[in-house]
Amino acid sequence: MSTWSIPKLPTLSDLNLREKRVFMRIDVNVPIDPEEGKILDDRRIRVHAQFIRKIVDEYNPALVLGSHQGRPGSQDFTTLEQHAELLAKYSGLSVKYVDDVIGPTAIDEMRSLKPGEVLLLNNLRLASEEIIEGPPERQALTIFAKRIASAVEHYVNDAFATAHRSQPSIVGLPLLLPSAIGPVFEKEMEALSKAISASEPPRVYVLGGKKVIELLRVIETLVRNKAADRILTGGLLAQLFLLAKGVNIGQENIKVLEENGILPYVPRARYLLMRGAPIETPVDFLVKTKESKESTESSKNVYLGNISGVIMDIGEQTAKIYEDLLREAKVIVLRGPMGVIEEESYRRGTLRVLEASMQSKGFVLVAGGHLTSMMSSEWENSSKVHVSLGGNATLLFLSGEELPAIKAMELSAKMFFGW
Ligand code: 3PG
Repeated sequence: MSTWSIPKLPTLSDLNLREKRVFMRIDVNVPIDPEEGKILDDRRIRVHAQFIRKIVDEYNPALVLGSHQGRPGSQDFTTLEQHAELLAKYSGLSVKYVDDVIGPTAIDEMRSLKPGEVLLLNNLRLASEEIIEGPPERQALTIFAKRIASAVEHYVNDAFATAHRSQPSIVGLPLLLPSAIGPVFEKEMEALSKAISASEPPRVYVLGGKKVIELLRVIETLVRNKAADRILTGGLLAQLFLLAKGVNIGQENIKVLEENGILPYVPRARYLLMRGAPIETPVDFLVKTKESKESTESSKNVYLGNISGVIMDIGEQTAKIYEDLLREAKVIVLRGPMGVIEEESYRRGTLRVLEASMQSKGFVLVAGGHLTSMMSSEWENSSKVHVSLGGNATLLFLSGEELPAIKAMELSAKMFFGW
């Protein structure tokens, strides 16, 4: 059982927002189709839109919104016009968009915004300071934080999903303005606190997908705080741990790990295994093979020691083992798919893990991302399930790591409210 306490943070009712000019950091970072550049899943936008509407109805502020989308150099690093349109559609409000972040155009737009109006800035990570991590005191000195703070009266952090980033819009602004967390942030903290307080063993984490480096950090914290009884792995994360165990996963798969910058992390994974981290790895996989250049691709189930072809999903036997472990679990946290779910034929492993979780008697927390696109509305609305908007932030919070956004908000409360 985890022992840390949930901090008390200022919420909207602690700020006097009526008709004030407010900068609210949201997280509408969403999956983007790399070919078409279109938004693939707008859940985060829908949820934020609903709360933005409530805030406007209740406080009538001049509301400036800021979010990131992707990271410079990644395919999903885009501007936010589409996001503005969807925020408007789902909130029923008119949402202005400015193709600028901290330049004179954005600052003028912010200063001239009237009560009841909503403005979305362009992707905050277009400003170079926003992609550098640093302590709150240093981030409060950035031009980024100082310019935004000069144009508004209050800061609200509603970006729980970015709470693990120590960037100026997350940790710098709370030191410059009276601040509070927003409703999405508050709701997430409430649900996660429930998961923590209900945390009786076995607590099973199912971790997969491509964000391996972040997941490794999460596992390190889970192990340090003894917060997980079993960690079932899939996706590239499973392949990293198999390599760390000395298993031959085949040249094609090693190449994929190399292309994703994962190979240097093998020693860190090995160190975790040596410390007795409760990590389960697959015993078989579904692979995609091509006998010759001319032949068509086909799939087959292969066992460890016999892997040839590109790994696309966990295998039949692994799915069975994972199902059994999940049915016994009291708390289940799911993050990331087991295989390449973008292709219909490789969704089965992930679906079986989801089904077994829903059949368990435990509380199920789905931490953001691609998994939610595979959930039926019946699962989503079940009282035993919480679908979190925050992916790695959620996992780090559950694993007991102090999140920079929370620490900065505590500092802010001390500075501005004397808490
Ligand atoms: C997420 O989707 O996990 C958050 O939006 C944070 O994104 P980042 O990993 O690019 O900081």
